Amino acid sequence: MRSGPIFRAGSSARKGQDDRQMPNIVVVGGQWGDEGKGKIVDLLADRFDIVARWQGGPNAGHTVRIDGKAFFLHQVPAGLLRERVMGVLGNGMVIDPAGLLQEIADLESAGFHIRGRLLVSNRAQVILPVHRLMDTASEEAGGETAIGTTRRGIGPAYASKAARLGLRVVDMQDEETIAARVRIFLGSGVAAHLRESGRLVPDPAEIAADYARLGREMRDFVAETSLWINERMDAGASVLFEGAQGTLLDVDLGTYPFVTSSNAVAAGLGAGVGVGPTRIDGATGVFKAYSTRVGRGPFPTELKGATGDLIRERGREYGTTTGRPRRCGWFDGLAARYSATVNALDSAALTLFDVLDVFDEIPLCVAYRWRGMEMTEFPAEPWVLDEAEPVYERLPGWRTDTSEARRLSDLPGNARRYIDRIASLLGCEVGLISVGPERVQTILGPGKFFHDYLGAGALAAG
Ligand code: GDP
Ligand code: IMO
Ligand code: MG
Repeated sequence: MRSGPIFRAGSSARKGQDDRQMPNIVVVGGQWGDEGKGKIVDLLADRFDIVARWQGGPNAGHTVRIDGKAFFLHQVPAGLLRERVMGVLGNGMVIDPAGLLQEIADLESAGFHIRGRLLVSNRAQVILPVHRLMDTASEEAGGETAIGTTRRGIGPAYASKAARLGLRVVDMQDEETIAARVRIFLGSGVAAHLRESGRLVPDPAEIAADYARLGREMRDFVAETSLWINERMDAGASVLFEGAQGTLLDVDLGTYPFVTSSNAVAAGLGAGVGVGPTRIDGATGVFKAYSTRVGRGPFPTELKGATGDLIRERGREYGTTTGRPRRCGWFDGLAARYSATVNALDSAALTLFDVLDVFDEIPLCVAYRWRGMEMTEFPAEPWVLDEAEPVYERLPGWRTDTSEARRLSDLPGNARRYIDRIASLLGCEVGLISVGPERVQTILGPGKFFHDYLGAGALAAG
């Protein structure tokens, strides 16, 4: 039996009681993902009422470390580890329902209360097993289409959405609708392709039964989140928008085609949550003090030898979602400035700073050289990015353990000079420096952004 429409979840208790306009900010990845967004979101989330994701799905792997214990978030926003926060999975996401229910169950058994605090957009797209199959098949075919995805079905699910062949969370309430949508999708050439490649064509009725059951299990989480979040903001609630992946993996602004299939840049949140641009008060980008990338694609400052290995070991650079070793390299000032510009960043958080503690000298890429030409702007041409040679400015290292530093004045002069040079390359302040995975291993920078949103006393108090 078909149910009536899903409207907003509950009413806003604060409506009319509070006419303060609280700030809404966004945290984005500044590089190729895994910049430590989980840690930064966790630090900030305590000061916000709602944490919302707007893109991606279970390809994300956000780690939050609390008192020696690591928690891995894939679809649930990292901000939800703070107990007073509500979480939203926006309409721009691709949801794996079984994975999401499992993740919620795991977090609940680790002692976090997620039920009642998480809303999933009725308009979000749904990942089907056949999307995962297509993702894996295209990766295993090798050649040009293999880009080293997370094999979570992200690309095929977004492709289905854009082709108007997708299944949405709202559709999962009705078994007939699911079967009809799956039939249309398979009939669009997908079934024929599966047959040709000797694979089994899934039965729409079976998928419909499975997804209708998952729909029932998810029912309490599903809401008209866009209207809900706007209403809450009207009532004075503040929202932290949590980005996944990173700017250079954005489908429009990243190193296409070696990108993910969503808008990881800050502006993506408007369409991905249903919130207009006039609502956003600030943006911060998270950058590693060096660079990493998982999967294929251009990476001009990549270090293939012992130095790259040393960074990988010190930074424990292995994927949260797939366990793959991450490619490591020096900080790329061109890529970072591009990222700061297209996201209009107010501030940057510089993470994994402690990883650089052992180097005598730290090269910072300030330009690319390509066939005798020097450039200081991040190019779009894949062949230029492939052949570009980084031009390095070599800064002296500090050769001091920074993991115990808690304020800027605890850092050696050379470490502060490195931070200042990165700020000048970015064209915005470095407002926060992270010197270890724990909450307390954080230093407030000289800028205003993190002072405003985190509060000067927050870090010392842990
Ligand atoms: P995200 O996807 O951007 O949230 O980043 P990941 O969680 O995939 O990867 C970042 C990793 O670095 C995680 O294991 C964090 O616990 C860890 N981390 C975060 N900040 C720091 C830091 O300042 N120093 C060190 N050594 N590790 C950090
Ligand atoms: P977080 O949120 C790093 C990469 C994959 C691959 C490309 C496309 O933890 O920073 P996809 O499965 O999205 O179709 O893969 O994007 N990728 C990530 N790399 N961090 C991530 O997320 C990533 N999500 C996807 O490795 O190169
Ligand atoms: Mg990650």
